[in-house]
Amino acid sequence: MSTGVRGQWSSKLGFILAAAGSAIGLGNIWRFPYVTGENGGAAFVFVYLACVLVIGVPYMYAELALGRAVQKNPVGAIDRLRPNSSWILVGVLGVVTGLFILSYYAVIAGWTFGYIFKMVIPNWLTFGEFVSRPVLVIFLYTVFMLLTIFVVHGGIRGGIERWTTILMPVMFFLLLGLIVYVNFLPGSGKGLAFYLAPDFSKITGKVILSALGQAFFSLSLGMGLMVTYASYISKEDNLVSSGLFVALADTAIAIMAGLIIFPALFAMGQDPAAGPGLVFNVLPAVFEHMPGGTVVGVVFFVLLSIAALTSTISLLEVPTAYLVDNRGTARKVAVWIVGILVFLLGLPSALSQGAVSWLSQPIVGDMEFLSLMDFLFGNISLAVGALFLSIFVGWVWGATNASEELATGNPKFKKWAPLWSFLIRFICPASIFIILLNLFKFF
Ligand code: PFF
Repeated sequence: MSTGVRGQWSSKLGFILAAAGSAIGLGNIWRFPYVTGENGGAAFVFVYLACVLVIGVPYMYAELALGRAVQKNPVGAIDRLRPNSSWILVGVLGVVTGLFILSYYAVIAGWTFGYIFKMVIPNWLTFGEFVSRPVLVIFLYTVFMLLTIFVVHGGIRGGIERWTTILMPVMFFLLLGLIVYVNFLPGSGKGLAFYLAPDFSKITGKVILSALGQAFFSLSLGMGLMVTYASYISKEDNLVSSGLFVALADTAIAIMAGLIIFPALFAMGQDPAAGPGLVFNVLPAVFEHMPGGTVVGVVFFVLLSIAALTSTISLLEVPTAYLVDNRGTARKVAVWIVGILVFLLGLPSALSQGAVSWLSQPIVGDMEFLSLMDFLFGNISLAVGALFLSIFVGWVWGATNASEELATGNPKFKKWAPLWSFLIRFICPASIFIILLNLFKFF
């Protein structure tokens, strides 16, 4: 078997930390809290949990089963099971989606990295000024891409696993420390109440769909990332418990991020409904007025940068694995090819926040270049990918084959297989289809 050449996680924990590292990212700490704030606080969290359990986790199992059964990237895996069929396009879509998500995600990750330094320089640039300085944003973006390339260059065990096993616990303890600190500030209790008191009247169809979309992005589903990461898992390991653990960790971190942000905002009398600008606009101002705020600010942006890095490496790994598996490229060469390509693709996003005026104008609706990339690849592509991958696993490769793979390493899964088959064949594709319809209504 080619696993020796392709690499393998050293243990079940190695996979869990790497996959949780992929899942936990800007989506959890930057996006989840403000989406929750806008959609009814605890009531949204409740809907989100249901989406993760009923659709996210069963779908994740489909990707995990496919990846470990065939031990290839998404293109290679589909090609092995249905050679020369158009299903391969679904794998190609996953690889392309990885390239494009990485291209704008690393731009935002670059800002978070730059904000570590911004926190120690009082009254330096506003957010608007910061993101519109071309040299600054491109420099930060380059640094972040180089860090990502460096980790993936080291391979599965010596790069991705090694760094995620160091970084994930560090991130977790920084997060815990901040939660404790912020919740001791006077006035923070009101933030907790806002965040955790459910307002079920706010639950509408649209809220449920945004919860489902958020669940897919946050769990890194829909582009074959879990197929790729599962291709490095040993046959003895338990996919079912590993996947569940990754989903729980991702959800727990998202909820914990809200436990920092809302208490901090309320303690400093700020508006929780600031939307996407919350983390970069409002929080730094909050930190400034807080006792020990500089340290808190630095810790927060270090934490966010780590979370982003463990996600960017996973995004780089999918196209890299494709070149390694399907084109026979050496990993170290593949990483640079993909890294440079992504870097070029991301330049317009980096310059679209004020640096270059025509890129910063709305292109479709009110979206400038970066937001458009996020809409096309972070929303539509992931949903389309997930729709076809669930059909591929449920109907083409077959839920029975997939269940057998899931039961390898966990014989107890056999009891759950009929329920899982039902979810993957009917519930997942139908609900993803509805998200898609809703996304297209946008136009
Ligand atoms: N899950 C990441 C986040 O929440 O920030 C983003 C992401 C990473 C999406 C990897 C998709 C992916 F394949």
